Amino acid sequence: MSDAPSQTADRTPSDALSEADHRTIPWITAVYNQKGGVGKTTTAANLATALAACGQTVILVDLDSQGNATTSVGGLYNQGPGAYEFFTGDASLAELARETAYPGLRLVAASRMLAGLELELSEQDSPQFVFRERLLSDMPSVDHILIDSPPALGLLPVNALVAAHSVLVPVQSETFAHDGMVNAFFSLKRIRSTFNPSLAIHGVLVTMMGTDATSKKLDKVIRSEFADAVFSAVIPRDIAVSDSADADHPVVVHAPQSPGAQAYMEATREFLHREADLRERLSRQRASTASGPTSEEGGRSLPLPCPLSKATADPDASALAATTTLARWHARVFGGIPTGEETANNSAPDAPKSKPVPPPLKPTLEAPADDIPPDWTGVVDDVYAPTDGDQGLRTATWVMAAAAVVVLCGVIYITMTTMG
Ligand SMILES: Nc1ncnc2c1ncn2[C@@H]1O[C@H](COP(=O)(O)OP(=O)(O)O)[C@@H](O)[C@H]1O
Ligand SMILES: [Mg+2]
Repeated sequence: MSDAPSQTADRTPSDALSEADHRTIPWITAVYNQKGGVGKTTTAANLATALAACGQTVILVDLDSQGNATTSVGGLYNQGPGAYEFFTGDASLAELARETAYPGLRLVAASRMLAGLELELSEQDSPQFVFRERLLSDMPSVDHILIDSPPALGLLPVNALVAAHSVLVPVQSETFAHDGMVNAFFSLKRIRSTFNPSLAIHGVLVTMMGTDATSKKLDKVIRSEFADAVFSAVIPRDIAVSDSADADHPVVVHAPQSPGAQAYMEATREFLHREADLRERLSRQRASTASGPTSEEGGRSLPLPCPLSKATADPDASALAATTTLARWHARVFGGIPTGEETANNSAPDAPKSKPVPPPLKPTLEAPADDIPPDWTGVVDDVYAPTDGDQGLRTATWVMAAAAVVVLCGVIYITMTTMG
């Protein structure tokens, strides 16, 4: 394994955006939650495929030695070079990215070798920066890189988070979701304060939402604590999603009309809206930094605003067009009419859908221009805000204080009346 060069260790992925304005510079997103089984892989695979259907060029990187993201998009697990070889410096990401059945989506596959990689990395200097440095030395010219992380906060997820512009946090609406979120945000806070200060929270995506009272309550709690960081789109628990995993296709292709697939398409639209906001903030940050006498990079002039891709410029139109593309991909892979569409729409796969464009999302990342990069620091801190029980205690304290004021006023009134 090659040692990581140290000269780029203090450069961030955002710096890299500045260095080749003439090229397509990818927006890099790590899909992360240190909890397992919350829908990270399902989200990474569906989002990557849906983005490709939106006309984006996408590389999905599978960093989990179990290889579920690899097989989820029909890739071959543990065969040929992939993510492991990227870390070891044997090839660039573009060289390792294999074509998938979906035009625009390429895959850097997982292998069993990834299981021992953390140990190998730990013997290097700056083991947290290997992925970032390898990317910076040969950045692929694509619109998006999505990284599916294994659970826990080992060196592989840390490498993904250090290399990323943004992190997407899937959270399953179940009993321990809240604790999982607190842990995840605690870890993200540490990554931001140590290795990647510009890491933005792309959002929190509620997955496997049930119709039971517990799921609804947890969804409410998460939204009250994490506010605008939470995607409006919610992924329902849907048998079509787990069936698609068996079929080695993401649900957006396997059953594009299913509730799970539709929810992932809505999440993709929202993802693009949020990305556009994040890119804009990054550009403003650049502009304000560049106006100073010298840049942080030793006087080298800082970049032009990072360009918006076509999809991020018009997420609603792109997501709408993607539904037609996904129907076509489904027909090509499975033949016939997409699963679940039989009664809904019998038009040919290529025929445009009559579905109306959904209303634009409300701006979710509103913040002053100087509050860059977006970080939800407040949200992270709010993780430690009072729980329901504490809230009750606070209310009781206010009631007692008000009662004390009333009694005091009464005593003063009686005293004055008696004296008068
Ligand atoms: N919306 C959903 N509805 C039903 N099953 C789901 C849904 N999302 C994920 N699953 C299933 O839950 C399991 C865990 O999901 P996965 O994406 O592998 O989680 P993680 O990557 O966080 O470990 C998988 O078997 C997957 O097929
Ligand atoms: Mg996984």
